[in-house]
Amino acid sequence: MAYLRWIFRLLMVLIVSHSLCVMFYYTPDTLSSREAMTDTLRLLRCAKLRHKFSIITSAKGLNMQSVTQELNDFLNCPFKPNTTERELNRMRLQFCCNATGSIFLTKRNTAVNQIIPYETSIRDKYTMNPAIHSMLPEDVPWSGRRLGRCAVVGSGGILKNSSCGREIDSADFVIRFNLAYINDSDVGLKTDLVTINPSQIQREYNNMEKNPDPFVERVSVYGNASLAIPAFAYTFCTGLSIKALRVLHPVRPQQPVVFFSPEYLRTLDRFWKRRGLKEVRLSSGFALISTALELCESVHVYGFWPFDSDLLDNPLPYHYYDELKPHPFMHSMPEEFVRLLQLHSQGVLTLHLQPCSLDEP
Ligand SMILES: *[C@@H]1O[C@H](CO)[C@@H](O)[C@H](O)[C@H]1NC(C)=O
Ligand SMILES: *[C@@H]1O[C@H](CO)[C@@H](O)[C@H](O)[C@H]1NC(C)=O
Ligand SMILES: *[C@@H]1O[C@H](CO)[C@@H](O)[C@H](O)[C@H]1NC(C)=O
Ligand SMILES: *[C@@H]1O[C@H](CO)[C@@H](O)[C@H](O)[C@H]1NC(C)=O
Ligand SMILES: *[C@@H]1O[C@H](CO)[C@@H](O)[C@H](O)[C@H]1NC(C)=O
Repeated sequence: MAYLRWIFRLLMVLIVSHSLCVMFYYTPDTLSSREAMTDTLRLLRCAKLRHKFSIITSAKGLNMQSVTQELNDFLNCPFKPNTTERELNRMRLQFCCNATGSIFLTKRNTAVNQIIPYETSIRDKYTMNPAIHSMLPEDVPWSGRRLGRCAVVGSGGILKNSSCGREIDSADFVIRFNLAYINDSDVGLKTDLVTINPSQIQREYNNMEKNPDPFVERVSVYGNASLAIPAFAYTFCTGLSIKALRVLHPVRPQQPVVFFSPEYLRTLDRFWKRRGLKEVRLSSGFALISTALELCESVHVYGFWPFDSDLLDNPLPYHYYDELKPHPFMHSMPEEFVRLLQLHSQGVLTLHLQPCSLDEP
């Protein structure tokens, strides 16, 4: 109904503005009349696309060819934030999952010898060892403070040549993933939180206890950013994560290694499953966008585009920094993308899929 009212209002605007032009210029064929007409038609089309994308619930049966054309048009429409919907989402997420107090294991929320069930199998449990406990942070790095404008930077090839670095760096809080490479032109340098994937440690830095330098160098690129690891997602993750903590804790005290609370990630996973997002496990990108929706004043999402060509049909690599292919079973990136598109259309977050303009950060 709200949609119909919208259309009606727009039609009224169209009629009124058109007749005004007729009154002023006598002939409806003047330039400004035609401009007003085009503007109104454009706004109508924007409203139509906004509605269409706000009720899409599945990527199945999406014809990417026609969708990218419409999406490109839609992203040229003015973004309409909806504070009510944004606050509703914040409350829902706080109520279900509470990133504020429980996103990471801290001395405050975890006791020595506490039994910690794993995220993906609660039959597997870890008992919090006193030595590890002593290396947990006192509290979450931002200790309950509301974060301002946040940029969540995925690794999508769409960021290549995007010139988005300056815009990303102007955010108050920047989240990145899997120790992704940074540079000032396309993805920016500022980093407040960066995730590490345990299989990345296994693959590239398994030898770090004997030879810590390559790993220490790799993480020091991010300055004082927290390094977040899903240490209790699967049992194989724990030893690798603890290894990283033991190596970095003494030499990079300004850069805390933090472990995601498996309980937080599990409740978040359930939250989205109840809302129809069916996949084995949420990607860390989607999980941290949800975190940002709870903690940040506004959320800007970059580099989340799981398709192999951009909005103008140019071919894209999957990541902006390597030539790897996606993991075929674990996540369902297109389904996650549809949710992000929905949240953008509802005015809850801003998706950035086009190159950034250099003059307005
Ligand atoms: C904003 O969100 C609220 C809550 O979902 C909704 O009732 C309202 O219609 C939305 N406003 C606009 C302008 O879309
Ligand atoms: C979230 O956690 C914080 C800190 O532990 C607590 O003070 C707050 O009451 C919790 N909020 C909800 C909605 O459970
Ligand atoms: C980025 O720009 C370079 C140099 O202009 C070009 O060779 C390359 O194809 C571009 N890559 C993408 C993904 O647009
Ligand atoms: C990083 O932490 C160190 C030590 O706490 C501090 O001296 C430095 O100013 C911090 N750098 C930034 C960019 O915040
Ligand atoms: C920034 O990084 C991207 C991706 O690795 C690369 O294509 C681009 O050439 C880099 N630009 C600069 C100025 O280093």
